[in-house]
Amino acid sequence: MSAELIQRAREAMANAYAPYSKFHVGAAIEAEDGRIFVGCNVENASYGLTICAERMAVGAAVVAGARKFRRLAVTTAVEPPASPCGACRQLLMEFGPDMEILGVGPRSERRWTLRQLLPDAFNRESLKQ
Ligand code: THU
Repeated sequence: MSAELIQRAREAMANAYAPYSKFHVGAAIEAEDGRIFVGCNVENASYGLTICAERMAVGAAVVAGARKFRRLAVTTAVEPPASPCGACRQLLMEFGPDMEILGVGPRSERRWTLRQLLPDAFNRESLKQ
């Protein structure tokens, strides 16, 4: 289960386009129906346009019609394993605070719920007047 998700994220990481930071990231998100969608980071000479691996994975999932997710694995080459950046936490939050997040490095894993990573989040409920 986790093994497949991690494997898919690592495969995506191999395609990371990160000529500026050299920091390669892969992500794999598992939908409620079991489908897995992947992403890698894509950098740009205009640095601020960079897209994170997690956001690419969510985009691929939504394009395919998936909106409910169980888990997301994010892989990097660092220890301790990296967690998703703040922008990605916010984007993921749109699809549910109970999603499990796995941070995966070469030697170890860390696990959180999205709620732990982004407490008291701004969400669609926050928009109600
Ligand atoms: N990056 C991600 O892909 N996901 C994160 O959660 C953190 C950062 C990418 C963006 C940039 O290409 C590189 O890692 C260094 O910040």
